[in-house]
Amino acid sequence: MLSQRVWAFVLFLNIAFIISRTSLCRIAKTKHTYIGEDYPMRLPVRLEPVQAQFDCSVRYALNSSVAEEVWTKSTDTKSGGIVRLGADRRVFAIAMYHQLHCLAGLSKALTSMDRTPASDGHVGHCLNYLRQVFQCSADATEEPVVEVSMLKSEGCAPAFIRQCSNWGTLYDYISANYLAFHEFKAKNGTWSCTGNERIETGKGAPNRPVQAELCALSISGQDVPNAHEH
Ligand SMILES: *[C@@H]1O[C@H](CO)[C@@H](O)[C@H](O)[C@H]1NC(C)=O
Ligand SMILES: *[C@@H]1O[C@H](CO)[C@@H](O)[C@H](O)[C@H]1NC(C)=O
Repeated sequence: MLSQRVWAFVLFLNIAFIISRTSLCRIAKTKHTYIGEDYPMRLPVRLEPVQAQFDCSVRYALNSSVAEEVWTKSTDTKSGGIVRLGADRRVFAIAMYHQLHCLAGLSKALTSMDRTPASDGHVGHCLNYLRQVFQCSADATEEPVVEVSMLKSEGCAPAFIRQCSNWGTLYDYISANYLAFHEFKAKNGTWSCTGNERIETGKGAPNRPVQAELCALSISGQDVPNAHEH
């Protein structure tokens, strides 16, 4: 049996460890200026693993009367998927929203009658972007096999459970960031997209998406975050 004193010491070590980790995290969060290339790769948010059921969805079926509205509402990056970070409140797009936006574009392209070079360009970009996203996340989940002939027009496959990152936390983070940004804007009286100008006029990587459009949306207030649709 360990003595009380040893237990107290072990407890002290544990608490000291937790405190040191917490303050390290805080330092890690603030060490970026979000100017030029000085920003972290990911949002400072921890997405817990959760289990979710994957099943078919009539609402997201192809060519239904509501499909376009549902896709647009839940996935349009123009009305969400934007965060502002750092002292300049620099605008960033968030990958999950970009990916959903691409799916909405593909859904639209499949049902739309008019193909243009611009829409083909977007489809091509999205197919290639999603290819890279899927390979990048190299998801090794084991899934039940489904015959294509078993799928109904709504894309119904047997439901299964899988592990996900808690995407609700990401929606919450973006909503909170949106509110904080608009509070800042109201309090400061004005806001300029400074951080992004530095990237656009400076030596930013050529493959960075042009952010002027996102800046314009943030300035005009047309940047309401996405609803948390299922
Ligand atoms: C999509 O729906 C429209 C109107 O309901 C219909 O005219 C068209 O044939 C459908 N397209 C496909 C590919 O099913
Ligand atoms: C806050 O407002 C001032 C003018 O009052 C402006 O110069 C500054 O750029 C604003 N801050 C941001 C982050 O846009």
